[in-house]
Amino acid sequence: MKIGIVGGGQLAQMMIQAGASLGVSFALLALESDESATAICSEVHRVQGFDREGVAAFVDTCDLVTFDHELVDPAILEAIPGAAAKVFPSAQTLRMSANKARQREMLQAQGIPSPEFVIALDSGQLREAVEGTGFPAVAKAAHGGYDGRGVFYLENADDLESLLSRLPGSFELIVEPKLELEAELAVLVARSRSGEIALYPVLRTVQLDSVCNEVWAPSGFGECIEETALGYGRRIAEAVGSVGMLAIEMFVVNGEVLINELAPRPHNSGHLTIEGCRVSQFENHLRGVMDLPLGPTDLVAPAAAMANLLGPPDPVDLVAGLAPVLEVDGARPHLYHKSYRKGRKLGHVTALADSAEAALEIAREGAAAALSVRAGS
Ligand SMILES: Nc1ncnc2c1ncn2[C@@H]1O[C@H](COP(=O)(O)OP(=O)(O)OP(=O)(O)O)[C@@H](O)[C@H]1O
Ligand SMILES: [Mg+2]
Repeated sequence: MKIGIVGGGQLAQMMIQAGASLGVSFALLALESDESATAICSEVHRVQGFDREGVAAFVDTCDLVTFDHELVDPAILEAIPGAAAKVFPSAQTLRMSANKARQREMLQAQGIPSPEFVIALDSGQLREAVEGTGFPAVAKAAHGGYDGRGVFYLENADDLESLLSRLPGSFELIVEPKLELEAELAVLVARSRSGEIALYPVLRTVQLDSVCNEVWAPSGFGECIEETALGYGRRIAEAVGSVGMLAIEMFVVNGEVLINELAPRPHNSGHLTIEGCRVSQFENHLRGVMDLPLGPTDLVAPAAAMANLLGPPDPVDLVAGLAPVLEVDGARPHLYHKSYRKGRKLGHVTALADSAEAALEIAREGAAAALSVRAGS
């Protein structure tokens, strides 16, 4: 069984790690800039971009194909004969879940709450949208943004003018009010090709400058919020017909759960499932794509937490940082084979404990230790 992964980042790396013990071999369709998974995969097809010819040739050499990101145009998948039978999630799922504007429209159609938003396709519409929303507002690229790269906070008219001067000729943005977030949650849903569903425990996430920084479970929210969040997760997975993992990012605002966005793949918030849950999001992603029975998702300890290793302002030596992090009792480091860049996700550290606070403390201590050695020292 050879599974092709489009993209060669850390999600692909951790899929390969999980798939190896299921006897799966892997091939990657990777950009020149992809570093993580290409370091551990023997078959790498390098491409400049994801055009129809390149994707079709790759699909042809694999038994099944899945994704580490959402950069392939669903229209390309639809145009490849035979792709519907072996590429998961499907082009149709990607249409509904890989573009923030389409996601929000789908949620509206389902009657599932999300922040109030307006879609803007040109500068006139953007001005109008921000006028309607008022300041402070948030404008977000509907497609292609990640780790906060397509998120623009607009505090005043100057911010709006500055954004307008930087935008390309054609764009699609969603504009919404900047909300007072009580908390952010993530619901991870595994779904197989036959429609079996498994929900992970609700995760609490903390973003730093719009980038995921820390995650823990249990979320600390009561049954009411958690059940609402899980219920939305199940309904959304069914509505978009996801296969493999679907991650749903949610806001808690005034005690109400609002859907922020979806990601039709394993997700940063689910990295703690590797040590923290009976079957990880990466293994369940592959099981769903292969149409195997899904595995149990419950926590193996009372609590689990994860801290990301985000590139600090000065370059660090992660290999030299291994000894210090391994000395932190209970800290489990994961490195992504990536070169240092400020703010870049270079790895993460997971910890299990009797409480979320205790797990978080170990994960934080481990992350600080992992980043404690300056490059060249
Ligand atoms: N309307 C809002 N009000 C307040 N904060 C917001 C709002 N929208 C987004 N944010 C903050 O910015 C973060 C990133 O936004 P969003 O998830 O939409 O973008 P992204 O770049 O696709 O994220 P990711 O890091 O998941 O790829 C959110 O997790 C949240 O912390
Ligand atoms: Mg997000």
